[in-house]
Amino acid sequence: MTPLSSLENHNEFIHRHIGPDEAEIASMLATVGSASLDELVKDTLPATILGGSPVALPDAVTEEAALAELRRIANKNVIARSFIGMGYSETITPKVILRNVMENPGWYTAYTPYQAEISQGRLQALLNFQQVVLDLTGLELANASLLDEATAAAEAMAMARRVSKSKSNRFFVDRDALPQTIDVMKTRAQAFGWELIYGTAAEAKDHEVFGALFQYPNVNGEIAELEGAIAAIKAMGGLTALATDPMALVVLKSPAALGADVAFGSLQRFGIPMGFGGPHAAYFATKDEYKRSVPGRIIGVSVDSAGNPALRMALQTREQHIRREKANSNICTSQALLANMAGFYAVYHGPVGLKRIADRIHRLTAIFAEGLKRVGVSVQTRHFFDTVVIDLGAKTHAAYEAALAAGYNLRHVSSSQLGVSFGETASRDDVKALWTALVGDAAKALDVDLLDQDRVTRLAPELLRQDAILSHPVFNAHHTETEMLRFLKKLQNKDLALDHSMISLGSCTMKLNATAEMIPVTWPEFGSIHPFAPSTQTRGYLELIEGLSEQLKAITGFDEICMQPNSGAQGEYAGLLAIRRYHEARGEGHRNICLIPQSAHGTNPATAQMMSMQVVVVACDENGNVNVADLKAKAEQHSKNLSCLMITYPSTHGVFEEAIREICDVIHSHGGQVYMDGANLNALVALVKPAEIGADVSHMNLHKTFCIPHGGGGPGMGPIGLKAHLAPYMANHVVAPVDGPHRGQSAVSAAPFGSASILVISWMYIRMMGGNGLKKATQTALLNANYMAKLLSADYPVLYTGKNGRVAHECIIDLRPLKAETGVTEVDIAKRLMDYGFHAPTMSFPVPGTFMIEPTESESKAELDRFIEAMHSIRAEISKVGAGVWPADNNPLRHAPHTQFAVIGQWERPYSREEAAYPLTWVRDNKFWPSVGRIDDAYGDRNVVCSCPSIEAYS
Ligand SMILES: Cc1ncc(COP(=O)(O)O)c(C=O)c1O
Repeated sequence: MTPLSSLENHNEFIHRHIGPDEAEIASMLATVGSASLDELVKDTLPATILGGSPVALPDAVTEEAALAELRRIANKNVIARSFIGMGYSETITPKVILRNVMENPGWYTAYTPYQAEISQGRLQALLNFQQVVLDLTGLELANASLLDEATAAAEAMAMARRVSKSKSNRFFVDRDALPQTIDVMKTRAQAFGWELIYGTAAEAKDHEVFGALFQYPNVNGEIAELEGAIAAIKAMGGLTALATDPMALVVLKSPAALGADVAFGSLQRFGIPMGFGGPHAAYFATKDEYKRSVPGRIIGVSVDSAGNPALRMALQTREQHIRREKANSNICTSQALLANMAGFYAVYHGPVGLKRIADRIHRLTAIFAEGLKRVGVSVQTRHFFDTVVIDLGAKTHAAYEAALAAGYNLRHVSSSQLGVSFGETASRDDVKALWTALVGDAAKALDVDLLDQDRVTRLAPELLRQDAILSHPVFNAHHTETEMLRFLKKLQNKDLALDHSMISLGSCTMKLNATAEMIPVTWPEFGSIHPFAPSTQTRGYLELIEGLSEQLKAITGFDEICMQPNSGAQGEYAGLLAIRRYHEARGEGHRNICLIPQSAHGTNPATAQMMSMQVVVVACDENGNVNVADLKAKAEQHSKNLSCLMITYPSTHGVFEEAIREICDVIHSHGGQVYMDGANLNALVALVKPAEIGADVSHMNLHKTFCIPHGGGGPGMGPIGLKAHLAPYMANHVVAPVDGPHRGQSAVSAAPFGSASILVISWMYIRMMGGNGLKKATQTALLNANYMAKLLSADYPVLYTGKNGRVAHECIIDLRPLKAETGVTEVDIAKRLMDYGFHAPTMSFPVPGTFMIEPTESESKAELDRFIEAMHSIRAEISKVGAGVWPADNNPLRHAPHTQFAVIGQWERPYSREEAAYPLTWVRDNKFWPSVGRIDDAYGDRNVVCSCPSIEAYS
């Protein structure tokens, strides 16, 4: 009889997460010629790296059990009312956006819109986001999100250095900017030897600088006079950047009206939960003249093959995937989902609704301040929007504690000062409760209504904006829930995400993002926590982070985890920072050579540049492996100055290099450190620990291997694992420092634990899989990739294989011979896959003219077979072009993708409408219609438009 433990089915989730069942695994093993998963692993991975220490993780538990465990942890967080400010505010996520975007796999499982024809929905949402930013800042060009406000500040400073004509190496920083912003700027400035000069806005003119940053309104709520300071900096050839609060900008004069060159900030308070620090979208806007110097991703308007407006990512030649170490910035995974949500918040409320919210916030703040003034409290902020600093002298500590006891978190500014910031959720009851907490019985004399009758305000007319905002129809047409719901659905329908079909993007690991993993993200116990809340309120979060750190240590073998980086690229930055500080501490700060194999992802050289390191490229051999002889020669040549190697393992060529241990040894023998890019960790989990094969530090893309969904271009998390000798040098935080040997180190992100609220996803995944489940997942990822490689190789040569002809968890197929023979390009094939209902694999990375395919363990055999059949069918189509049956310029590949409109229109093509739209019978069952035809990239870059086009443009 079956034992009870089997009936309890503790491993249930493992079988929900992994695509093929046991029978399918057996049949696929037979196809690839392996007797078992264990044998496949032995056949594929170098013997030198197998056999390390086992992964000590608890056994798998069911979804319900994991959720119950996490619920107990969540309950240790205390939800208090947050009046701390400092860049994070209470906000209300409109429920229609919460359920239909944030909690909707149609939005959160999409990838970055590299295949624009099947991404028009989120591209439009991001364009709306840019339009919101343009309206609020008054500037001419906006990007579609950066990682957080503090990194946006560092980007503004770096851009100032690129465009400023000043010879100075000094940058002026408003001493009343957010402290975490200053901290992140310090980190960036140090690497380049830029000196930061601090002072009040009025003092800026006294310094020769290449740029300046002012906070508007500043951390204490003051709206300082900035026009004079801005003019003075500009007069000396410097660039001026304003860190701004978007809600304040709804009523205040725009940064452009003040003369600023750049404006940036966080759109968290546009409906995004605080989440203990993130994820949130930062924005960045500037003048058109700087468009080629702007950091991050820009969404632009172009035209499709029928001449209709169509959206795409513009000016990509500025970005790291093309410009590598010469890139403007290193934004790959950004905050797309949160940017979409913030844009939708503006669509939902419109200009009138937003003004009402902003005016209410200000009125409550003004009433609160006026009341305190009338009972004799000194209110120190003169002109403010939502934040005041009050002086309570000797009573400050008691008042802070009284507010805390009443459920309110305030900001301790000094021993005699408190800061109070109002958000969207604040009410007249909060004002009364805070009065009572702060002044006791004296509050009885105060009356909200009476003060309101006086129409108190601290916004003098000259501070207010006169221009209209959000006048585009999109912000004025969706204010009922029905309209909003349909607007969101309309956009969603234009996008292909994992809820439709597999997305086999190599190096991206588009695996299942299970619902049980996502559910806790929107629990208020995780969403409603300010990152600087007292530690007595965040015990649950600290337990979660500690627990996830232990899980990741068990998987990677590292001694420490730094949970701060918000993306893989930022993890690289944090890792190289630790390496640099390590060398400096040993008196070897001159070590600045970073060896990077030819095949590396663009973020690697871009990161090295952000650390002011010199990149030396190492050649790869004809099998795609690092050329060890070249590596040795370069390490020898640069021995004295060698800082590190950045290496991806298994490689971006999709193979396990046999020589990895030797490669790491070479670097160490020259005093260098090994940075292992963990983008491909999904091929190693529970088989090999990076720290045991030679890595000193490595990032883990939690948004790949550990199931955080890609969100249409972010959020992500890129924590790093470090060996003990590097741990003292990892990033820490100035406002909420983490105890440890790294005390005093400056930060890489605004929040101490990056985008903390999405860590629940990875925690849930690891908990529900257990050590055995994770091993099975890795083995199946290898099997799926080898199965794919085997069956596709009949039509498309697999470019690189490792030992025994095996590939790792992804494979590269070479499309160049077909192009040479028939003229059909990799782009044609990518677009044609859309007609079959598939997203193309990664195109032309790391080798031009190829596809890199990563099926992941979550795809079933049935889905893999459909993809393979589609690729075979496309191969047959290519043959027809090659044989002259279809002309080279008039065939279903060249015209792909086919829109509905194209197919029902006039038809004079040598292939049928049926062949265009339903090339295989099963396509009919689940047809995905691209909403635009092939997009003209060159046109879009020649005519950069990054604002919402008029409605007439679409007619
Ligand atoms: C090999 C590799 N390294 C680094 C990155 C950068 O990671 P992120 O997009 O999280 O910044 C990627 C992203 O695709 C990658 O594939």
